[in-house]
Amino acid sequence: KELVFSGVQPTGNLHLGNYLGAIRRFVEMQAREAQCLYCVVDLHAITVWQDPEALRSQIREVTAAFLAAGIDPKRSIVFNQSQVPQHAELAWIFNCVARLGWLNRMTQFKEKAGKDRENASIGLYDYPVLMAADILAYRATHVPVGEDQKQHLELTRDIAQKFNTDFAASIAAQGHEGGFFPVTEPIIGGPAARVMSLRDGTKKMSKSDPSDNSRINLTDDADTIAQKIRRAKTDPEPLPSEITGLKERPEADNLVGLYAALADQSREDVLRDFGGAQFSAFKPALADLAVSKLSPIAGEMRRLSADTAYIEAVLADGATRAEAIAQETLDATKDIVGFVRRR
Ligand code: AMP
Ligand code: TRP
Repeated sequence: KELVFSGVQPTGNLHLGNYLGAIRRFVEMQAREAQCLYCVVDLHAITVWQDPEALRSQIREVTAAFLAAGIDPKRSIVFNQSQVPQHAELAWIFNCVARLGWLNRMTQFKEKAGKDRENASIGLYDYPVLMAADILAYRATHVPVGEDQKQHLELTRDIAQKFNTDFAASIAAQGHEGGFFPVTEPIIGGPAARVMSLRDGTKKMSKSDPSDNSRINLTDDADTIAQKIRRAKTDPEPLPSEITGLKERPEADNLVGLYAALADQSREDVLRDFGGAQFSAFKPALADLAVSKLSPIAGEMRRLSADTAYIEAVLADGATRAEAIAQETLDATKDIVGFVRRR
């Protein structure tokens, strides 16, 4: 049976990459009749310092974005990580399964910690282990994410497999067949699995880029979206007619990928229509398409974000439902590890 889990950090500036690479795909998974859990991962957010007031409002904003994009909080479980303490508790057990060598290879830690690694938080280093706990607390089978999370999902698979091997005898003795934790499938792909910065086609679009022109925020109005696309970096050549013509043209490749994702087409389809066109013709078409897809979401996000009571009720209901599943997994995990239950 399919069980889907994914998370988004409440760290500000939700952008087109978050939407096309992740949130829109959450909605697609929900349509597949799978049980889906979508989590606002505030414990991950504080691995770098967050202003408490800003964090509170961003938690509500990400929740509003989920709902505005089409996640139905009755069908899917929408919740906030810190309201379900089992994530942190399972992460401790996984800390004792994961190996230092595995974490030392994580490229996102190296990027985020930068040169001053001695001064990075231990939470930032441990981030992927908590992520494994998020997923495996529900024994999720499928995880839709952007390309940048691929390495973290491989670590999740390694943790599940090592736990299953280390405790194979105990798992069997407890009556579980064929391992306890599933080896989760990442769901990564499509033309927008890695959306790049509008200012530099070799850098990914990111919440933390100091240039606001590098990204399209989900809350940008129509004029801002059009202006950012008009100003997006490009080369002087017209668009190619064949996909191979996008090689070594990262900015052109990115804009064609964005068009494809927004129009639910492939890059080939887009080049069939726009091959030979100048950017002066292509950019306005892309801007119109982006505005028509994003404006309704922005409007709904604004409306929902203002309704704090509703957002908090959704999160409370989600946490209650998530906790029931996570507690079952945690109890079984503790039995497997050899802890004595309180009776
Ligand atoms: P984060 O903002 O890091 O919490 O990411 C939330 C989700 O958006 C994750 O699944 C990321 O992989 C995805 N994501 C973030 N940036 C991009 C991007 N530039 N292109 C595609 N997906 C992205
Ligand atoms: N690490 C993810 C990101 O940066 C967010 C995340 C936390 C997540 N826990 C998760 C994604 C579990 C998928 C599954 O975007």
